[in-house]
Amino acid sequence: MTDLLLRVKNIKTHLPLEEGVLKAVDGISFTIRRGETMGLVGESGCGKSMAVNTIMRLVPSFAQIEGDVAYYPADGDPINITELDPYGPVIRDIRGGEIAMIFQEPMTSFSPLHTIGNQITEAIRIHRTEDKKEASKIAIDLLQRVGMSNPTQRLNEYPHQLSGGMRQRAMIAMALSCEPSLLIADEPTTALDVTVQAQVLQLMRDLQTEFGMSILYITHDLGVIARMVQVVAVMYLGKIVEFTDVDSLFYNAKHPYTTALIQSIPKIGNKSRGRLESIPGAVPVPINRPPGCGFYPRCAAAIEGLCNRIDPPLVQIEEDHAVACFVYPEVVDAAGESTAEGAAHAF
Ligand SMILES: Nc1ncnc2c1ncn2[C@@H]1O[C@H](COP(=O)(O)OP(=O)(O)O)[C@@H](O)[C@H]1O
Ligand SMILES: [Mg+2]
Repeated sequence: MTDLLLRVKNIKTHLPLEEGVLKAVDGISFTIRRGETMGLVGESGCGKSMAVNTIMRLVPSFAQIEGDVAYYPADGDPINITELDPYGPVIRDIRGGEIAMIFQEPMTSFSPLHTIGNQITEAIRIHRTEDKKEASKIAIDLLQRVGMSNPTQRLNEYPHQLSGGMRQRAMIAMALSCEPSLLIADEPTTALDVTVQAQVLQLMRDLQTEFGMSILYITHDLGVIARMVQVVAVMYLGKIVEFTDVDSLFYNAKHPYTTALIQSIPKIGNKSRGRLESIPGAVPVPINRPPGCGFYPRCAAAIEGLCNRIDPPLVQIEEDHAVACFVYPEVVDAAGESTAEGAAHAF
């Protein structure tokens, strides 16, 4: 059995709109190994959700997808997800059974019309056992493990009867009900207050240790990244601009965008009462993008005549550390022989 679980190779998700083609995801590559936790971080609008929805084949039908997403089951041949019928049985088996997803707003995952118990046991009965009683038992056990009080009673409650934090726990229970190999969590704690957020993060860490699944954690919050993942991809305007392990990200950030993101985190014990750094400008909408680096208009380190002309490729410049920025001579060298795939395959 290979320890490779998912290989994403140069995926592009382009949305043809009246104003032009919106390049929501524009050539990203990475791999996830079994048991690994990876983070995808970047400001709102940089294409994180579109990237994972492309992996799950949940993008709008008018979206144009390119590239390969290979899923490596524990037994059997790899499955090329991008070639599957998005409504067919194979992707439906993978969704929920092999790869589970949790979202920011659990109300969009749960139907308001059915009880929590109905929805969790239905997932279990589709993927694990047809026996109703056994499915209920598994559901109660899961609700207990995610820290729900009175799990038996919760089974008969409707989503609106639970608090936000409890709904999020129920959603995690549903996601884990089929023992997925990969859990994709798209900003699952963004809508929660900080105390509940901390509890849910702790819960996910515990469950990851217990179940040993891989996690792809999507967030705009570097604080969450620091607590949750081993390797990190920083996204900007549909591309990965930096890729490294979590320690290097915080202590040895290379891309000016990553540095700016880190400087905008409030620090405890910071005596100065100065204003927090913020990154000037906003993430542009990636329609009719000018040539050059997407971060060029906001970048303090931009090299005139280079960064506004050529888009820097993602290049490995240290062990397990790739960056897409012309401040680094290796990237300038590589631009000559640049391919859109960059160096992320090294991971
Ligand atoms: N259904 C859609 N139609 C048109 N544009 C979209 C749609 N969904 C997302 N976008 C655009 O795609 C880009 C990436 O969005 P998204 O993946 O949601 O970003 P993130 O999750 O990082 O906040 C943004 O510019 C967003 O406006
Ligand atoms: Mg999103």
